[in-house]
Amino acid sequence: MRNDIYYFIDKLRSEHSLTLQEYKIIAESFNEANAEIFREAADKKRRAYYGNKIFIRGLIEIGNICKNDCYYCGIRRSNTNAERYRLTEEEILSCVDKGYELGFMTFVLQGGEDSAFSDETLTEIIKYIKGKYPEVAVTISLGERSRESYLKLKEAGADRYLLRHETADSNHYAKLHPPELSLENRMRCLKELKEIGFYVGCGFMVGSPYQTSETIAKDLKFIEELKPEMCGIGPFISQKDTPFKNMPNGSADFTCYLLSIIRLIHPPVLLPSTTALGTLEKNGREKGILAGANVIMPNLSPAAVRKKYALYDKKLCTGSEAAEGLAELKGSMAAIGYEIVTDRGDIKLSEREE
Ligand code: 5AD
Repeated sequence: MRNDIYYFIDKLRSEHSLTLQEYKIIAESFNEANAEIFREAADKKRRAYYGNKIFIRGLIEIGNICKNDCYYCGIRRSNTNAERYRLTEEEILSCVDKGYELGFMTFVLQGGEDSAFSDETLTEIIKYIKGKYPEVAVTISLGERSRESYLKLKEAGADRYLLRHETADSNHYAKLHPPELSLENRMRCLKELKEIGFYVGCGFMVGSPYQTSETIAKDLKFIEELKPEMCGIGPFISQKDTPFKNMPNGSADFTCYLLSIIRLIHPPVLLPSTTALGTLEKNGREKGILAGANVIMPNLSPAAVRKKYALYDKKLCTGSEAAEGLAELKGSMAAIGYEIVTDRGDIKLSEREE
């Protein structure tokens, strides 16, 4: 078997598929030279679909109350140090108004799994947003729910749903989550969301505890097969009040390496350069864009709650991470040759004509 990087790039270009063993070799072949080869190929692919355009999404963290107890996450229910909050409907809508004025055309309502955000409440919020601004896209990121619930949200007008799969290996999944959560149910949710007609986003943390080249190979294979419209990957960053507080952080460079590979596996994917990447390393978000990402999600939450939505330590939420910092963000993207556009940023399924 040939196992050089160019062979993998060619095979992805012609067959859009590699074997698990090949993905494992790729995960194990991370070094600066190979990262640069993948980066160049990914940048070319991204430009073929999206030119130098970067889409923005207004991220509204609607609450940090969560019934789950994921070992990595700062808003897990056992964390008694987390200052809990839940935005009111009015607060959420005023974030949307503010974002719309700033030029955002997509809003992401993200939060913990909190039964107070019932189907009725969410339906009302979604209908209100779509009634007032019919041209915007509404993305929901509120975890695992029933099929009926997903259907109601879709019928109310929600367009997209983000639910990271976290890891495609069930043993690894069990090391990151308590027994009441399963990979099986996560997969059920993703499958149903897709069937219902949402744009679906999966994703995982890079460098999460117990991750191996085998589990990464499974993640890449899963992405190849699911063909999600969106895929969120960012480095694991330890949070001081979680069981994983002493675990090492993921690597920003390895995250960028995987961003490039994901762009090559599924070229049209909407791929964010995440806040976690920007938090771990200065200019991390720029590096993510250079590696093949084409989406940025500035924070539109009310300033008073941003620190409370602490999934991990030292989360960035000011400057160009904040929606108000849009001018700064535009400047930093222009400096590396990319243009922030105010567009819904739907997926483009074929390469551009030119
Ligand atoms: N470090 C990095 N990412 C995290 N997430 C949760 N906790 C952490 C952490 N400590 C990610 C998970 C989740 C998303 C909303 O944030 O992948 O799906």
